[in-house]
Amino acid sequence: MELDLGGGYRLRPALWNDYAALCRVCLKTGDAGKDATGREDDPDLLGLIYAVPYQALAPEFAFVVEGPDGVCGYVLGALDTPAFYEKLEVEWFPALAARIGDPGPDESRWQGSDWARHAIRHPEFIYPEALQAYPAHGHIDLLEEARGRGIGRRAMEHLMGKLAAAGARGMHLQVSPRNRGAQAFYRKLGFAVLRDWELPRHTVFMVRGL
Ligand SMILES: CC(C)(COP(=O)(O)OP(=O)(O)OC[C@H]1O[C@@H](n2cnc3c(N)ncnc32)[C@H](O)[C@@H]1OP(=O)(O)O)[C@@H](O)C(=O)NCCC(=O)NCCS
Repeated sequence: MELDLGGGYRLRPALWNDYAALCRVCLKTGDAGKDATGREDDPDLLGLIYAVPYQALAPEFAFVVEGPDGVCGYVLGALDTPAFYEKLEVEWFPALAARIGDPGPDESRWQGSDWARHAIRHPEFIYPEALQAYPAHGHIDLLEEARGRGIGRRAMEHLMGKLAAAGARGMHLQVSPRNRGAQAFYRKLGFAVLRDWELPRHTVFMVRGL
């Protein structure tokens, strides 16, 4: 399966040999949509938390955008969020944690990617009752060169179609409160901010039925 996105861009299934590209895109968009390169001392950890496990654990909902200069984005999803989080907890994070150092619990001593090293050892899975009508979830990140061409919309619509066809009745996304651009983009695609006292404040949940 491939989707022609025009202008030399296409959407195709993500493969295991896309891991380096997934990590690169995740790093370049990892600071609320902006480049996180200057913040991180390990360029791969963001991708190993937020992108690569989707290809590894839910490959049927993992796609990359390939442009004239190679992979320049991805759209990733999971059909059943609690089941996916359980897989992450059992199959993904322990093996990853075994390969990296432990920054310890004292946040005041953390530097560079220590926050990620800590997050890998103590992953936070947020799935309160308020999200249960929206059990699937997704992520999208495009490098700057691929933005503003309608690729984000087409890629998300493709993912939503796949999730709906597999039986999802609704999906959610998490977005940084600082990432106003992505929030505007998601609103254009029919998502609305979910407000509930159970939800944490450090992330915005946006939801829509499928
Ligand atoms: C957010 C992102 C996925 C949007 O993709 P895109 O391909 O640029 O968006 P599209 O061109 O498909 O735009 C679709 C619609 O959203 C709107 N939109 C897109 N980005 C927007 C922005 N930053 N601010 C306001 N509206 C925006 C477009 O104007 C368009 O509206 P229309 O349908 O009325 O024409 C992309 O900019 C991106 O990857 N940004 C960096 C990473 C990021 O923030 N990811 C989300 C993390 S939660």
